[in-house]
Amino acid sequence: MKIVFATHNLHKKSEAAAILGSSWDVLALPDINCLEDIPETADTLQGNALQKAHYVFDHFHTDCFADDTGLEIEALNGQPGVFSARYAGEGCSYSDNVQKVLREMQGLQNRKACFKTVIALILNGQEYLFEGRVDGLILTEPRGTDGFGYDPIFLPDGFDQSFAEMSAERKNAISHRGRAMQKLMGFLQQRPSFFVQNL
Ligand code: IMP
Repeated sequence: MKIVFATHNLHKKSEAAAILGSSWDVLALPDINCLEDIPETADTLQGNALQKAHYVFDHFHTDCFADDTGLEIEALNGQPGVFSARYAGEGCSYSDNVQKVLREMQGLQNRKACFKTVIALILNGQEYLFEGRVDGLILTEPRGTDGFGYDPIFLPDGFDQSFAEMSAERKNAISHRGRAMQKLMGFLQQRPSFFVQNL
């Protein structure tokens, strides 16, 4: 069964494919010839996820899902939050963002943080939302080379490896997006008649 994930990020596409399993053929935006950048101008994760899902639904007339993620750091009053992708400025790299977090947190004792993901699904014109969260600590220096984004500085509670030191399988089992995706999968499994019709 095919399902469209409103993302250009092939890393996220393969994460979703691994979580949803072999009964789902996950298509990303390039697979449906959506090459443009989708606006993400809301000020909440939920708003951005819905905005992206509606964009694909309106322009490509297909059921789809979209996600939005933020890293919320307690000592920084929840920053970078919804601005996680561009925390160090427009066009910044993952490494720029990591370095900015480390700078802002220099000397701070409270390292508590969490990742939150909201997934918006549009199915037959109806909206559904799924949330996932993982708590952890911000490390004082990057560790590991796998994953992406803030993975090298995020140590999930109960583990001694950063997200960037874990296998993708282990990260997916406990991550914010993995948890939101598990909820999405549970929902979709109860609706076996769901197929992408318009590709
Ligand atoms: P997005 O909403 O998934 O595009 O995520 C926004 C930003 O949050 C990304 O640009 C990354 O910097 C960060 N991010 C999202 N998911 C992860 C993750 O699983 N690990 C580390 N950073 C992430």
